Formats: sequence, structure tokens, C-alpha cells
Amino acid sequence: MTVHIGAKPGEIAETVLMPGDPYRAKWAAETFLEDAQLVNNVRGMLGFTGTWRGNRVSIQGSGMGMPSLSIYANELISEYGAQTLIRIGSCGGMQKHVGIRDVIIAMTATTITSPSSGIFREVNYAPCADWSLLKAAVAAAEAKGTTTHVGGIYSSDVFYAERPDLDEQMVRHGILGVEMEAAELYTLAARHGRRALAVLTVSDHLQTGEALPSEDRERTFGDMVEIALQAAFPDA
Ligand code: HPA
Repeated sequence: MTVHIGAKPGEIAETVLMPGDPYRAKWAAETFLEDAQLVNNVRGMLGFTGTWRGNRVSIQGSGMGMPSLSIYANELISEYGAQTLIRIGSCGGMQKHVGIRDVIIAMTATTITSPSSGIFREVNYAPCADWSLLKAAVAAAEAKGTTTHVGGIYSSDVFYAERPDLDEQMVRHGILGVEMEAAELYTLAARHGRRALAVLTVSDHLQTGEALPSEDRERTFGDMVEIALQAAFPDA
């Protein structure tokens, strides 16, 4: 048990998928894992462990935003020995060629500030994905035929942004989408020698104002979960 995770030692797998929403963790575990067991319900931040094609996997909610994700990722890494951490979540599309329902695989994640900013001081650290996971996720997405974009994303600290000029600069510099967690996940994984990736579904679009209807979400998010699982276990 840690401060925020009630699982006993050994109850969390070395591979952990991390959706922001704890109910999406429940849905993904029930839909994709065999023998999924609830291993955490502290603060309702549900976590499950089961198997996928014979491989042990945990799916643990991270909450929204980098400070929340940082709590769960730190405890998973330092106390439970998580080796591979894959964020699965939604993001806002930023480029015209990125459509609703498309998948974005984040090569890098730009931030203004993150829980790790304090240790970097004057350095603009570039959080980047693990190459082996990125490569396997792209191969899985191509095999599925999912419309997928690979490149930089923006990890924002706010959902309700008050700086349209910032979004404009991100768009100008080719950023594909905006979410709120990946940059800190990539930074923590790098610090501790672990592997991390973010596989995201575009749920809304900053340029067009479109949003994914709620009835479409499950099927679309399913592709993302399968891509993440295949990336973790490319031979399964
Ligand atoms: N902004 C930040 N995070 C998000 C968004 C957004 O538009 N959509 C989904 N996650």
C-alpha cells in the first residue's frame, strides 16, 4: 500500500495503462482484460489487474492533470516496480488535418510548466516517448487501419485556457493535440529509467469546435486501448 494506492505488493503488473478517468479504467479492464481484479479504490481512483493474451497488465486511473498523474506514476514506479507506463486518454485536436476520432501517438510533449519544472530551472527539457513503445504502437495502429498521427503534443495545465495566443503558437509549430498529462509521465519515466508512451484519441477540436458524441466514445476509445496493449506486447 502507498499513500494513494491500496494494492498489496505484487498486485500491480509491470505494464500499466493509465487513463485519466477511473471509470474508463474500469471499462477498459472489463472489456479487454481476462480475470480483471480491482486492486485500488482509494479516492475512487480505480485500478485493476488482469491479463491480456496471457500477459499481466494493470489499468490504473491517473486523474486529470500533471500533478495528479505525478502522484500515481511516482507510486507505481517507486513502490510497485512499474516498468512500462502507457497513458490512454483523450485530447483536443489542434491541426486541421487531425480529425475527431483519430489517434495521436505522442513523440514529444511540450509544456509551459509541470511538477518537474522546478528541478530543471533554466533548462527547457524535451519530454519524449520511449522509442520501442512508439515504434510498436505505430505498427499496431497501421495494422488496425486506424487513422493515426505521430508527432508532438502539448500538455497544458488548464482545460479552460485563457491564452488563445498560446494555442496559436502551438498550432504554428505543428503540435497535433492538447491534453494535460503526458509531459510529466515522459519526464518521470526518463528519470527512473522506465518506458512511457501516450496514445490519445481526439475527442474535440480546437479549430473546428467539433466534439465526439458520447455514444461514439466507447468504440473509438477501444482502438486506442488495443493499440496501447499491442505496443506493450508486440509479440502477443
Ligand atoms: N484541452 C485540454 N485537455 C483536453 C482537451 C482540451 O481541449 N480535450 C481533451 N483533453
